[in-house]
Amino acid sequence: MLWSDCLPPRLREELRLHQHNRDNRRGKVSKYAQTWFQIKDVFPQAIFSKLIVSLERLPHLTRNEGAWRSGSAIDGRTLMASQSRSPLLYLMSDEFASRVREETGIILSMVPEADVNRLSLLYYSGDPERDNRVTARTRPDGCGWHVDGNIYLGQRWAGILTLREDTTDIESKLELKPHGETKLIPRQGLENSLILFQGDHVSHRVRDMVSGEQRVVLSLLMSDNPTVTWNPWLRHYQRRVNRMFYGL
Ligand SMILES: [Fe+2]
Repeated sequence: MLWSDCLPPRLREELRLHQHNRDNRRGKVSKYAQTWFQIKDVFPQAIFSKLIVSLERLPHLTRNEGAWRSGSAIDGRTLMASQSRSPLLYLMSDEFASRVREETGIILSMVPEADVNRLSLLYYSGDPERDNRVTARTRPDGCGWHVDGNIYLGQRWAGILTLREDTTDIESKLELKPHGETKLIPRQGLENSLILFQGDHVSHRVRDMVSGEQRVVLSLLMSDNPTVTWNPWLRHYQRRVNRMFYGL
């Protein structure tokens, strides 16, 4: 019997989450949490078209580049206060939840609204100045290989819903490495599809964009138990990440 077995259930859960995040920082992930799915045609076509049109009217909301990646991000609260609200409400509907359940066999919910990672819009583009070596900027447009931290007691499921990926590559710039093996995702048929993966266990990255390329995705965060940790250090870490990404 372990000493932690004597703890109340909630504290045992907190301890497990703390140990999980500590292991993550050391590059240790579970081989039992390497699952990913691709769900195609997520939005009904009419809603998808409405969403694309509404987002084209949003350039003034685009935030500046973050410190960890070039490109822009718009947080969910800003999105839901914009004209994109109506089509995006589909992602909070029972219809969408059932679709996810049918495709994955898991009951997942969006994380609470207070978390800006619940829903956000990410925009990636090439950097002509870097491509032409006008600047010594070396920061990549995407993110290098990494796993995410988790502040929820349940599993962390990261979703990348591609709205548009205009590149010269055959494969998506998003790459996953379940069980340490790189999965290339065909770019054809990627629009309006959701790549859902265990983001705190499956290593992932976004390859660099080159000049003229553009990629626009919705990032979703779901969990089978979206109860936020009591751990103040983990919450502080998440706030720091949010500031880098969204300036919040
Ligand atoms: Fe990530």
